[in-house]
Amino acid sequence: MITEPKNQGASIKRITMPGSVVGGAPPAYRVIDAIRRNEPSTPEVHDTLDREEAVVEMKNFCLWYGSTQALFEISMKISRGKVTALIGPSGCGKSTLLRSVNRLNDLVDGVRVRGGMLLNSDPIYAPHVDVIDLRKRLGMVFQKPNPFPMSIFENVIYPLRVDGERRRGVLKDAAERCLKSAALWDEVKDRLDESALGLSGGQQQRLCIARAIVAEPEVLLLDEPCSALDPIATLRIEELIHEISERYTVLIVTHNMQQAARVSDFTALMYLGRLVEYGRTADIFQNPRLRETEDYVTGRFG
Ligand SMILES: Nc1ncnc2c1ncn2[C@@H]1O[C@H](COP(=O)(O)OP(=O)(O)O)[C@@H](O)[C@H]1O
Ligand SMILES: [Mg+2]
Repeated sequence: MITEPKNQGASIKRITMPGSVVGGAPPAYRVIDAIRRNEPSTPEVHDTLDREEAVVEMKNFCLWYGSTQALFEISMKISRGKVTALIGPSGCGKSTLLRSVNRLNDLVDGVRVRGGMLLNSDPIYAPHVDVIDLRKRLGMVFQKPNPFPMSIFENVIYPLRVDGERRRGVLKDAAERCLKSAALWDEVKDRLDESALGLSGGQQQRLCIARAIVAEPEVLLLDEPCSALDPIATLRIEELIHEISERYTVLIVTHNMQQAARVSDFTALMYLGRLVEYGRTADIFQNPRLRETEDYVTGRFG
């Protein structure tokens, strides 16, 4: 589903670009202008979110890399059983926010956080949290496929092995189930013992998705999972995200607006480490409340 902005006719008449001197003063951006001036700003969070059940809940979450603040007062809920896309200009903090959910940023020296995050009501950042246990509850897929140098079968069931599962039947069933969910089973079922490194990039990424869901995660975190793939492999991953969202909650970072429009139920626009507008994807793309959101999703700024 590629959506066209509903009021495109009206938008085309506006010829001013942000920061442009041609055609008069630049447009006023209620939230983004405040962010640029480093003044407090209230993001537009649509009330359609109120009807959703949250799997992850972020409350005034802030993050610093050393002395540089990368996330500012992020409060948002990630809806159960839905696909939520994080969009925004490069460097706005999308990956940082995603990596905050499974505390991958803990591995970076000098990272400090404030505020809270809950995963199914359990605090993610409380002192007693076992980070290894926390990460088992979340699946993650990165930009570049990262299969391990082992067989296709061993790749998929790796998280179960690490967890001590040895029963051959359980492992075989899990591998088949997840490879089917990842739309890869038919292509690999006769060569499960071959190296995963022999697969194409798109197949490797589907394998990584199979591996990310084998332990039944509560949320699947995807960081630009198609950015290293060709258009056909990208389309297959997008179809796959759509299919797995029937069973899983997905939080996906993408710099590709069409992709956000095609795969997600909810979209959040970020800018300089802040949330700008968050609502149903259809509303964000066709009926945003903020002018900056409309300009961003139609490619006029960012
Ligand atoms: N490991 C890191 N150490 C220091 N700064 C970082 C690190 N990772 C990201 N940043 C900074 O944090 C900000 C947000 O980055 P990032 O989350 O990667 O943005 P996005 O994914 O939206 O492109 C950027 O200014 C980036 O330079
Ligand atoms: Mg990123």
